[in-house]
Amino acid sequence: MTHTPTNILVTGAAGFIGSNFVHYWLGTYPNEKIIALDALTYAGNRENLDPVATSPQFRFVHGDILDTPLIEQLLVDEEINTIVHFAAESHVDRSIHGPDAFLKTNIEGSHSLLKAAKKIWLDGGVNDHRFHHVSTDEVYGTLTADEPAFTEQHRYLPNSPYAASKASSDHIVRSYHHTYGLNTTISNCSNNYGPYQFPEKLIPLVIANILDSKPLPIYGDGKQIRDWLYVDDHNRGIDLIIREGKTDNTYNIGGNNEWTNIDIVGLICTLLDEKFAHDTTMSSRFAKAPQNSGKKASSLITHVDDRLGHDRRYAINAHKIMTELGYNPVESFETGIRKTLDWYLSNEKWWRRIMDGSYQNWIGKNYK
Ligand code: NAD
Ligand code: TYD
Repeated sequence: MTHTPTNILVTGAAGFIGSNFVHYWLGTYPNEKIIALDALTYAGNRENLDPVATSPQFRFVHGDILDTPLIEQLLVDEEINTIVHFAAESHVDRSIHGPDAFLKTNIEGSHSLLKAAKKIWLDGGVNDHRFHHVSTDEVYGTLTADEPAFTEQHRYLPNSPYAASKASSDHIVRSYHHTYGLNTTISNCSNNYGPYQFPEKLIPLVIANILDSKPLPIYGDGKQIRDWLYVDDHNRGIDLIIREGKTDNTYNIGGNNEWTNIDIVGLICTLLDEKFAHDTTMSSRFAKAPQNSGKKASSLITHVDDRLGHDRRYAINAHKIMTELGYNPVESFETGIRKTLDWYLSNEKWWRRIMDGSYQNWIGKNYK
């Protein structure tokens, strides 16, 4: 059965994927109203929503998903029939150093939203509703080099507190369909990259550190593999699932794009070396960069202690969403990574404010 979103509540809307989703949604469906909720933790940034702030279809609410009465009020007042739930603690390294916040937000917070949706939609007779839960491929655990990519049938075997908290919330979402009949869907996506990604994650961290001539920390041997997808390709997949996905179904989203960490870092180094070689303004804009003293960006690569419990390989089999819903990523890695690089070069103020602020970028990195 297809679902027709009218007014949509997006949680975690000031974070990386959430803010890109808001931009994507208002660009694609200018007549649909979007309520953007975010608690503005260290990872949430109101500025990420500035480009849509004056849209009459957009409202920002500074609030916490744990605040069930607030969510109930929003569902009623704004006549919301669709929730897209991104809000989470999302960084694996932080979950290793402090798991409590992950269990609180990702498990209890998701449950708070489900309770509100059940009360307002099910008890209130809103039949055409959809609760979409945004999850991760990390719930499936790790793969060896030869194992086939994760399908939706893969057993859950989460290894980090982050992955375990996401796995728990997936199960609770599923139980709200099975027990109460809430219309739910879940997507499990691979690693995203693109604009507005907080520079504690690998790709933006490496870009910012090269421009400031700081070490590029490679955990362990750097041969761990991740399957990278451009953020708007994730959002296109979520859009399809909300409208045409089957209730109580899980869809994997991925771009068939596996890279070792050391190769990704090497690629970003090469692309930035090329930028400095071809664009004469780069040297004055980024005076500290190694290219200005005749060095290559890769000279900054520094091996550090491995992450505890580090998953070796993630890979997504996206056959189900491709065949059932006609999904296909639009961006190739070549185009996506160049777009991302250009965004960080054009938005220095955005990432510099974070890098220069109170944000602790030591987490998980033991420089030798
Ligand atoms: P992010 O850390 O950039 O953003 C999370 C947002 O949630 C922040 O704006 C934060 O302020 C907000 N938030 C945190 N706790 C909240 C609370 N209690 N109430 C309201 N808002 C709260 O994360 P992201 O990378 O954009 O990830 C978004 C979602 O997508 C997460 O659920 C994550 O598990 C999932 N996901 C991420 C990736 C990835 O590669 N980044 C891949 C697959 C799935
Ligand atoms: P990250 O961006 O934190 O995403 P995730 O842990 O969710 O996959 O890390 C991507 C990969 O890069 C992961 O294997 C850990 C590795 N990594 C480093 O080697 N150095 C770093 O400084 C960071 C942040 C990550």
